[in-house]
Amino acid sequence: MDLKKPNSIVISGTGSYVPEKSLTNDDLAKFLDTSDEWIFERSGIRRRHIAADGEATSDMALEASKKALERAGIGASDVDLVVVTTVNPDMMFPSTACLLQAKLGIRNNIPCFDLSAACSGFVYGVEVATRMMQSGLYKNALVVSSEKMSSIVDWEDRSTCVLFGDGAGAVVLSASDEADTGIIGTVLGADGSDTAMLRMPAGGSLMPTSAETVAKKLHFVQMDGREVFKHAVKIMQEKALEVLDHCGVSADKVSLLIPHQANTRIIHSVAKRLNIPSEKVYVNIENYANTSSASIPIALDEAARAGKIKKGDYVLFVAFGAGLTWGATLVKF
Ligand code: UT7
Repeated sequence: MDLKKPNSIVISGTGSYVPEKSLTNDDLAKFLDTSDEWIFERSGIRRRHIAADGEATSDMALEASKKALERAGIGASDVDLVVVTTVNPDMMFPSTACLLQAKLGIRNNIPCFDLSAACSGFVYGVEVATRMMQSGLYKNALVVSSEKMSSIVDWEDRSTCVLFGDGAGAVVLSASDEADTGIIGTVLGADGSDTAMLRMPAGGSLMPTSAETVAKKLHFVQMDGREVFKHAVKIMQEKALEVLDHCGVSADKVSLLIPHQANTRIIHSVAKRLNIPSEKVYVNIENYANTSSASIPIALDEAARAGKIKKGDYVLFVAFGAGLTWGATLVKF
């Protein structure tokens, strides 16, 4: 097969979707021992969106994907690779990517798979798709991050449930002949030595679902917030600097920093370390809370639609999540 390798892989379309129902901090305070003041001061969150009953991860992925395809100006039949990142797939198998493929009516002879890297999933997904596309085999890939966090948080645990929300973000990656544009560089990493810091322990092969695992609430997110916070600040700062260094681009050249939206205090500490002023940092956690891997592509889509990204701009993604996993990507639009 004579494959023409692309000169670059570009983000040709973005899309996002959040469910209609919005739950404010004050709404939470009606059934939890918490307050708008505590949640906003500690995390920057005011409200989150919650999926409707029966609305699955693939349904949100579908809506975000349709918008990304429309903005890329291509049809579902032009897609030749689908990667979905999520920590709450519709079901253990088949993959949510296969379910999305069917919902989009995408042709059958293309690879579709899920990727598990928690909140870093989008950065991992973009890197994996980019590397596959550099072979010349795939012209257009859909990378979709969709998360129904409301289905895996314990609504009686105020230390976790107030922090998360539902939503989906998608990008179309396209092979391009233009050089020096698109995905410029990525760094990824992981450290699986302390999984207890952030996990959902049951429902897999180690602890299959049983009456006991349900009674012990082992199907919900467990998190040591303080420990996660410390690691997130350190690693996100390091990785953002590392990818810039690797690409030979200084932080002052970055037009927009789009960090994983887990906590405004984490975001501002990363921006400060990079000396990036707040007007160049995209923050929307106030409206959506932490949507895990969907947070960066939702923010990217919002920023793009608001006209905050121009041709030639450097945009920096940096993420951190359970695993622990992390990643940073520099994109030139
Ligand atoms: O996507 C990646 C995964 N997640 C993250 O990156 C989250 C990282 N961690 C954080 O964002 C922060 O650690 C939190 C927002 C989770 C917590 O903020 P904190 O400043 O680290 O608070 P804390 O855990 O030290 O808790 C302080 C107090 C505790 O009371 P005591 O022990 O000091 O009496 C908690 O019981 O706040 C209490 N608390 C609450 N109070 C009101 C915990 N949750 C709540 C709540 N409302 N929802």
